[in-house]
Amino acid sequence: MKTGIDLISFYTPNYFLDLKVLAEHRGVDKDKFYLGIGQEKMAIPPPDEDIVTMAASAAEPILEKIDRSSVELMILATESGIDQSKAAALFAHSLLELPRRCRAVELKEACYAATAGLQLAASWVKDHPDKKALVIGTDIARYDLRSPGEPTQGAGAVAMLVTTEPRVLALDAEYGLYAEDVMDFWRPNYRDNALVDGKYSMLVYISALLESWKQYAERSGRRFEDHARFCYHLPFTKMAEKAHSRLMKDVGLTPTPALMDALLGDSLRYNRITGNTYTASVYEGLSSLLDHCTDDLGSKRIGLFSYGSGCMGEFYSGVVQPEYRQHLFTERHSRLIAGRTELTYQQYEDIFQLGFPTDGGEHTFAQYRTGPFRLAGVSQHKRIYEAL
Ligand code: CAA
Repeated sequence: MKTGIDLISFYTPNYFLDLKVLAEHRGVDKDKFYLGIGQEKMAIPPPDEDIVTMAASAAEPILEKIDRSSVELMILATESGIDQSKAAALFAHSLLELPRRCRAVELKEACYAATAGLQLAASWVKDHPDKKALVIGTDIARYDLRSPGEPTQGAGAVAMLVTTEPRVLALDAEYGLYAEDVMDFWRPNYRDNALVDGKYSMLVYISALLESWKQYAERSGRRFEDHARFCYHLPFTKMAEKAHSRLMKDVGLTPTPALMDALLGDSLRYNRITGNTYTASVYEGLSSLLDHCTDDLGSKRIGLFSYGSGCMGEFYSGVVQPEYRQHLFTERHSRLIAGRTELTYQQYEDIFQLGFPTDGGEHTFAQYRTGPFRLAGVSQHKRIYEAL
């Protein structure tokens, strides 16, 4: 029985900062960002958007196409949780009017957790073939102003419907894993912005890739050439290019620019203009590949590498289903991106500095452009959401 991604939908906030503007204010050459890390724009959530509204906005188009009562498992993965106790999944579950008979939880392992969610959901639907699972990765990547990580900030969510006989990507059974206790990127509970040992994090990412690829290749018997395209966790697009080039050398191939672009290029397009979306990023890459690739990927195998600092790596694969193009949200994604509003530097910094109210009082948030859901305010430490 096949299991995997039946539908995949991506959402990113309606505002962005162009990294050439950030470069001007940081006194660096814009090509350090455009070429050196391979990023052009970073998505900025307005004050009435958070991981819950982004998650629900990503999932709603999927749920409009199915019977919501068939969703009995909802896994929301995030690095940017909003509560130490209550799962963000429950806020999104309510906005999405999912059935009460549903197992709804939040998963955490930095940028990796949506992949754990996807694999757990795929195993679960095998036992319950008449049910559907909703897996969402949703994140706001935040680093300190003027830190090296600042130009890699971003925001977005990807929702995936996981079923038997999926229409978009059937997951292969084989995978390779790598877990190690390292401090490459972390965010203590008392901090809003991540801490990172940047250069070290890049080394750990690559060693996690090589180790998990090794196990995947041994278990599956597949070679590099058995994969038509690759999707990587995308902290910034250059990271994926560096990692892929290293993997190619490791398997004895030469990573020419043309080959790199053919295998990877289409998967990088959304990330380049949204920035890091943490848990969502490898699936943002998959969505970007499926939306942009002009070759028919039907029946072709895609290799995927998911990475979460701390660290957890997984290499896995899936086969694109023959009629996948009929089930994509390509037009919706392109409208969303084309309709975004550019922020000035000052607007970016004002939003960044706006602290979340913690006094337990009554706060109503001004209305910005969001998706179909917004964070209307906070009352006595309780977030108030509304559907528009
Ligand atoms: N034109 C073209 N290229 C330029 C340039 C210019 N004018 N100026 C600099 N560059 C190049 C540099 O040569 C360098 O390229 P190489 O790496 O190929 O040598 C690149 O631009 C970046 O320059 P620096 O190395 O000087 O950049 P930095 O030290 O200021 O910051 C970073 C880079 C460490 C990645 C930083 O952005 C960072 O800390 N990011 C957050 C951490 C991160 O994303 N880590 C990735 C792995 S961990 C992970 O994946 C989990 C996660 O999501 C966070």
